[in-house]
Amino acid sequence: MNKLLGVLTAGGDSPGLNAAIRGIGKAALDVYKFQVIGFRDGFRGVMQDRTVQLDGSALSGILTVGGTILGTSRDRPNKMPVGGQVLDMTEAIFDTYKKHHLDVLVCIGGGGTIKSAYKLSQLGMNIITLPKTIDNDIYMTDVTFGFDTALGIATEAIDRLHSTAHSHHRIIVVEIMGHNAGWLALGAGIAGGADVILIPEIPYDEQKIADAILKRSRDGKHFSIVAVAEGALSINDAEILKKAEEKVEKAESGDVKIEAKQKIEEFNAQHLGNTLRLANQLESLTGLESRLTILGHLQRGGTPSAADRLLATKLGTACASYINKGISGVMIASRGEGVEPVQLEKVVGRRKIVPLDHVWIESARLVGTNLGD
Ligand code: F6P
Repeated sequence: MNKLLGVLTAGGDSPGLNAAIRGIGKAALDVYKFQVIGFRDGFRGVMQDRTVQLDGSALSGILTVGGTILGTSRDRPNKMPVGGQVLDMTEAIFDTYKKHHLDVLVCIGGGGTIKSAYKLSQLGMNIITLPKTIDNDIYMTDVTFGFDTALGIATEAIDRLHSTAHSHHRIIVVEIMGHNAGWLALGAGIAGGADVILIPEIPYDEQKIADAILKRSRDGKHFSIVAVAEGALSINDAEILKKAEEKVEKAESGDVKIEAKQKIEEFNAQHLGNTLRLANQLESLTGLESRLTILGHLQRGGTPSAADRLLATKLGTACASYINKGISGVMIASRGEGVEPVQLEKVVGRRKIVPLDHVWIESARLVGTNLGD
């Protein structure tokens, strides 16, 4: 009997998802003679058994298209909002898996998806994940697809902000996505020549940023571009967050843990306006007019870059080959030119943030960029 694969996309969408679906599907159908079905809207679609046949015509013409033809959601199997309640729907998901006699369920997603996928694999489902996210924060893969496209969009935004900042002699603070990792802001900041780059890995001191901007003014440069990762924090706030996280780790009872986690959620909610606060602070500390641009979901939209299409195709086709060899319980990682299956337990619950000795940090400093410290 031919193998049957299920494919879903979960978490935030990311350019290259369709290229990955196409890579898996074409290799699976044409080379290995498997059948392939897609589930709509992530794990929710598996729970509700909403499928789409991924045949040749469904896979045609999607390589260059942004988003995901399958739809996506951030729903987790064990905490699924259903009819006004949050329920554990893991069993329903397993039922769908068994009903279709799936040989493997391919879950294309980021850190949250890997966590859910790992739990399903522990229950006995054959699972493979592919690493996608614009944040590039997945452990044990060199890079994730979506990152290169988002990097290009953020870099172009910084390029465009330069001429308006220059004309008005302003500070422009530009907020760049990336969750709690600084890859996107650091990469786009360097590529776009931002004067200040702030990332979560390096807590910032507002006064030092203001001093750097004032020095530029004294040198005759009356504008500055400040590229800020959405997760960047001031030294004070980073200290508060660190203590709150330590409390969660040390919590001895469930109640204390829940309370400590709530504190972190409150902290995160209060800090949604962080970059606006920073723009205002820089205006008062320097006396220069400042403006804020939040790039937001613009960074995830539209057609994937050539590099993301290549990466997603490489990982998708490799995924089909590993399935053909009977391998599961792994994430297909990109390593150098090649690919490598990595056991899910090695990746789950870990994040790849920017190491402080990373060459990009060194390069940024060597071209005179202020990193807020
Ligand atoms: O993980 C990708 C990402 O775009 C992050 O950079 C960002 O913090 C988050 O998703 C936004 O999520 P949502 O699309 O749910 O608003």
